[in-house]
Amino acid sequence: MGGSMTSATTLKELQDSALEHLWVYLREPSDMAEKGEPTVYVSGEGVRVTDSQGNTSIDAMSGLWLKNVGYGRKEIADAAYEQMLKLTYMPMGTTTEPTIRLAEKIAEITPGDLSRSFFTSGGSESIETAIKLARAYFKRVGEPGRIKFISRKDSYHGATAGAMALGGNHLYPRADYEPLMPGTFHVPQPNFYRCEYNSQTPEECGERNVKAIEDTIKFQGPETVAAVFAEPVSSPMGAVVPPDNYWPMLREVCDKYGVLLIADEVITGFGRTGKMFACEHWGVTPDMMTVAKGITSGYIPMGGTITRKEIADAFVGSQRVSFRHVITFGGHPVAAAAALRNIQIMEDEDMVGNSARQGAYLLDGLKELQEKHPMIGVVRGLGLMCGMELVKDRETKETYPAEAELGSRLTSAFQANGLHLRGSDNMNVAPPLCVTSGEIDEIVSGMDRAFTQVGRELA
Ligand SMILES: Cc1ncc(COP(=O)(O)O)c(C=O)c1O
Repeated sequence: MGGSMTSATTLKELQDSALEHLWVYLREPSDMAEKGEPTVYVSGEGVRVTDSQGNTSIDAMSGLWLKNVGYGRKEIADAAYEQMLKLTYMPMGTTTEPTIRLAEKIAEITPGDLSRSFFTSGGSESIETAIKLARAYFKRVGEPGRIKFISRKDSYHGATAGAMALGGNHLYPRADYEPLMPGTFHVPQPNFYRCEYNSQTPEECGERNVKAIEDTIKFQGPETVAAVFAEPVSSPMGAVVPPDNYWPMLREVCDKYGVLLIADEVITGFGRTGKMFACEHWGVTPDMMTVAKGITSGYIPMGGTITRKEIADAFVGSQRVSFRHVITFGGHPVAAAAALRNIQIMEDEDMVGNSARQGAYLLDGLKELQEKHPMIGVVRGLGLMCGMELVKDRETKETYPAEAELGSRLTSAFQANGLHLRGSDNMNVAPPLCVTSGEIDEIVSGMDRAFTQVGRELA
């Protein structure tokens, strides 16, 4: 898929216009102006993207962990186009075949009896839907006092009010938006590298972090707690893979106190971690699962909240008990057609297996980088969801001061080496699931050169 070149004059016009009229997410206009940005992209193929000046680079972050089948899959565009020619919406209170087929497919590929989907336009709406479903569920089953939520520090669940209250990490300061949704309580993240309980083994870290959830449930009063929200592998600190005992123990604790377990698989779902859904690594079926991103590989916006049958059934029987919640674009037939084709590609081409295999290869490569570059404090990953924490001092795990501008130095160095990666103390590396071992070699060697350069600058 060749990109058409934009003249330098047109590019300048576009950039000036963007600086005046557009919020480019996670960027600040004066910084972009200084760097001659934003870069404008025009095409993509597989793991590579090409900008308006014809420069091609590897998108080692899959956009935002979403380009699972990679860029440029014509079959998905065709499926969306064909559906667009046929039908682009439906009369109120009805549905369409692709939407039904997608719900059916999701019931087939998700673990256990997760069986009914509420489709949304993205991850944040899926979380908001789960918040409402959880509270409404307990009203339906005669436990109306269960209104509180427990989530983890250093997590991210989305940008909308409820989702933001559940999340909590330094990248998105909560103070700007207070007061946040009342009734949310945060416990530590099971990050063995920085375990809040100074655990000596991953098992101890898993146990203690689940105990923190149990203690919070008991302290709040189990009869007031609706649900625990957690990402199976958490992104903000750089792919925090929990100890293996964490999810099974968390499932037990939630069952013991009648609290719902909601797995936020917005990033991890659809093959990212080397299983179709990350909960499968630990044999756990959550009560609800939120998805988005990889459901269409980002070809078109879509998300969903999937519930176990028992929860969905509480909303069946009469109009009075039904779930009254509308997202206009949820279940859009064009998005559903694209999602179905996307999932079919993943299955036909064993992209989930490729994620497991290439993920292990990438992790080995990152570990080699860690041996070479003292600033890499820890490397971790599951499938193609890899990450690392960067430190100034490995012994004390002290991070670089803001003045060192580690993040922007690294981002520029990665870019200069043909890689799209966001430099930060907490790095993520997550190429599309179609990545080959040759492309992983390119990613690792590009990172190697970038770390060498930035290491020298900061020495
Ligand atoms: C785990 C998780 N949940 C929810 C969201 C929110 O999704 P969206 O940005 O599609 O609203 C994100 C986005 O990155 C996420 O990583």
